[in-house]
Amino acid sequence: MADTTDTKSSNQMWGGRFASGPDAIMEEINASIGFDKKLFAQDIRGSIAHATMLAHQGIISAEDKDKIVHGLNTILSEIESGNFEFSRRLEDIHMNIEARLATLIGPAAGRLHTARSRNDQVALDFRLWVKEELEKTEKMLTGLIAAFLDRADEHAESVMPGFTHLQTAQPVTFGHHCMAYVEMFGRDRSRVRHAIEHLDESPIGAAALAGTGYPIDRHMTAKALGFREPTRNSIDTVSDRDFAIEFLSIAAITGMHLSRLAEEIVIWSTPQFGFVRLSDAFSTGSSIMPQKKNPDAAELVRAKTGRINGSLVALLTIMKGLPLAYSKDMQEDKEQVFDAAESLELAIAAMTGMVRDMTVNTARMKAAAGSGFSTATDLADWLVREAGLPFRDAHHVTGRAVALAEGKGCDLAELPLADLQVIHASITDKVYDVLTVEASVASRKSFGGTAPSEVRRQIAFWRARN
Ligand code: ARG
Repeated sequence: MADTTDTKSSNQMWGGRFASGPDAIMEEINASIGFDKKLFAQDIRGSIAHATMLAHQGIISAEDKDKIVHGLNTILSEIESGNFEFSRRLEDIHMNIEARLATLIGPAAGRLHTARSRNDQVALDFRLWVKEELEKTEKMLTGLIAAFLDRADEHAESVMPGFTHLQTAQPVTFGHHCMAYVEMFGRDRSRVRHAIEHLDESPIGAAALAGTGYPIDRHMTAKALGFREPTRNSIDTVSDRDFAIEFLSIAAITGMHLSRLAEEIVIWSTPQFGFVRLSDAFSTGSSIMPQKKNPDAAELVRAKTGRINGSLVALLTIMKGLPLAYSKDMQEDKEQVFDAAESLELAIAAMTGMVRDMTVNTARMKAAAGSGFSTATDLADWLVREAGLPFRDAHHVTGRAVALAEGKGCDLAELPLADLQVIHASITDKVYDVLTVEASVASRKSFGGTAPSEVRRQIAFWRARN
């Protein structure tokens, strides 16, 4: 697709009033064709629906409508096959297509823009594009959730340390940890679904801002374009970019989740943790240190999140001071959304691949799960349950046991019974049943807890919804 940057002649669409033509700087700042050419398919779809409605309502003739539709389909295949010459002089995708239509079909082309403005046209094109992107995002999140469900199934019983403050807290199962991400991405997916519902209204027919005197049928175009209904207020319709901002907000929240996952993968794949090994496909070697395997893809996902956040803040800032209705500032909405969409798609794809491919080192996880006195709470709970101590006293007794084990350089489960009985006389050898990590996780059967039986319940819940 070639760009022509001819600045000599005047803007053909505006005609005589700008006879001297915009100078090079004006053309440069004004043009959006460099990025909004991405909307060509939506623009043509919208124009076909509009022309069809105009003919149906007797606003244009059936002959003109046929010529317009035929011409638009020709343009669609020209663009798809790379045989369309985009011109910056023609400013944007709407005028590029309309100008080409005039060349192809002559004066009938001039009837297409009846009862329409570029303000409702761009609102339509962009909405259609964002809607498709949200639908794609929904599918990709479903794929990521499926990857986690498979890993959770496989590791419903595998113990690992659970962390708070990144300090060993209590043993959990790796399956449980995976299911935490399923909840996060499940919420993201429901935000996507809500956003699709919000934007499912057709802007076309709002015209410049006030509606139109032609007897158009907005319900007909809404239906033809797959929208639930037309928007209700023409002023709001051409000045609203909430759908783009919602997309970016969802992208930012999802990106934040992906980035936390990326961070965990970076930590887990260090030799010091050794919980997972990334596949060669998602890591790189070092050019100087032969032993290294770097989690580059995870790091880049973490970084893409910064970029997505930037786009959200950019569009919120672009919109915040605009009086109703349309202002040209709004042309700056598209690059933010296109860039964020590309980053988000790539980040979800990369994380899905990483989660599916990574090798989980259950032995390392189990060893780490038992270190750091991770079953101290289980000892305290045992004292409450079996010896009738108030929890605060049990906490104190357990603290003394931890200090003793620390002094001896051993784990709680390795302390001799005699030592434990010095700390509290009511402790019996039954206590050892709860000091293992397996017993600890198996006991946490509260709804949503880490016991393998609970993890399986969570998996079943999500399997039925994925
Ligand atoms: N290229 C413009 C945009 O992206 C299309 C709408 C232009 N409307 C106008 N009244 N200048 O916003």
